[in-house]
Amino acid sequence: MASKKPIQCLVGGALRRATNMATLAHTTAPSPHSSQHLIDLEYQRSAHNYHPVPVVFSQAKGSSIWDPEGKRYIDFLSAYSAVNQGHSHPKIMKAMVEQAEKLTLSSRAFYNDRFPVFAERLTSMFGYDMVLPMNTGAEGVETALKLTRKWGYLKKGIPRDEAIIVSCCGCFHGRTLAVISMSCDNEATRGFGPLLPGHLKVDFGDSAALEKLFKEKGDRIAGFLFEPIQGEAGVVIPPDGYLKSVRDLCSKYNILMIADEIQSGLARSGRVLACDWENVRPDVVILGKALGGGMLPVSAVLADKDVMLCIQPGEHGSTFGGNPLASAVAIASLDVIRDEKLAERSAKLGEELREQLLKIQKQFPDLIKEVRGRGLFNAVELNSKALFPATAYDVCLKLKERGILAKPTHESIIRLTPPLSISSDELKEGSKALQDVLELDLPKIKKEKKPATASSHTASNVCDRCGRNPCDSF
Ligand SMILES: Cc1ncc(COP(=O)(O)O)c(C=O)c1O
Repeated sequence: MASKKPIQCLVGGALRRATNMATLAHTTAPSPHSSQHLIDLEYQRSAHNYHPVPVVFSQAKGSSIWDPEGKRYIDFLSAYSAVNQGHSHPKIMKAMVEQAEKLTLSSRAFYNDRFPVFAERLTSMFGYDMVLPMNTGAEGVETALKLTRKWGYLKKGIPRDEAIIVSCCGCFHGRTLAVISMSCDNEATRGFGPLLPGHLKVDFGDSAALEKLFKEKGDRIAGFLFEPIQGEAGVVIPPDGYLKSVRDLCSKYNILMIADEIQSGLARSGRVLACDWENVRPDVVILGKALGGGMLPVSAVLADKDVMLCIQPGEHGSTFGGNPLASAVAIASLDVIRDEKLAERSAKLGEELREQLLKIQKQFPDLIKEVRGRGLFNAVELNSKALFPATAYDVCLKLKERGILAKPTHESIIRLTPPLSISSDELKEGSKALQDVLELDLPKIKKEKKPATASSHTASNVCDRCGRNPCDSF
């Protein structure tokens, strides 16, 4: 067995950076309930697979979050769009508590009295014959991949073990081995090979390249997996007409169109599904995140019988998928999206937010490269040269000090995806904080941060697999 190393030896540069501000602030041992103590404890006892902004959530309601010291923040991430309905929504919480008192788990070795109701509700809301329930988003994507391969062999007649799935440069679909095999993110794939075979990549938004691929290899291609708006890539919106072209090409070449709406769906983009922006109906839709109302992991794959019944009893499943607690929470989560008209709300508030952000861009034309988004699914892309030696992470640290919680994606993009229940005034507070950070804080950071110690990952952004920088797709 490996000998235990002293904790100090394990402290890496990246996390030290994340915690250094708070660490420097105290010289005596922090109280056992303080943010600093909790950050240190997590660092010592948990795998270092994240690089969090150093703030501890202790309580949350709607779009407000409080840390253990009682400081309030406004949420501009929504747990990567898992909290579209707002934190601790009373109707979802009530459904969860009431169900928890009755029945939480049956496994699908038996029936329970909530899952069929959830299945009926979800399929009728989205207009599909059937659902296959899972828990996390990555499991939903895995399920869609397996279903697509099975359909490819049974219905399309692809020779055994030769099915191909196509995915997009810059995509993000989760962290399991099959799913990272679709990825262009070096951090997610390096050191985890060999990746799954039976996979090809194409540029996101390029329907001509997609058609070329379908023409050349279409008889072996079972499905095209894509995000209608790429979230982790930095809220990348495809050109107008792309979704329609994908639909037409998939129909023409008998290839399943698989929309990963885990982040873009459930009202985030200002439509219930992002595919609704072009009134396109995919063959397979994957939902997750906000399906669990920010309370439980719930994911689901939707398809018609022709596809879904390719999977037979015993061929796929999950102990917790379709559990009665998750089903009750998911029904309430869908009710809130419908009753509170969250898609319409997201569309309207998104316009307001972008208007404010575009004004800030006018003030800093060299620094802000682009403001883009649909509904409350938005990103501010900074010009990395003008930002250097600072990064989007530095900007987010300063936003946090000003009470706004946002997370960078890549080195220079800040994603702004607040709960859809946020108020206009809170949106204004977020925009004002960004303006202040760019005007007042950034010049100081740039002065203080030595270029030699600044991290510039420009080279490593170039994908090992397709040789592209995901942010330069268009
Ligand atoms: C589009 C998309 N698909 C899948 C996933 C994976 O979801 P989970 O983290 O619940 O496994 C994510 C998570 O960010 C996502 O954005």
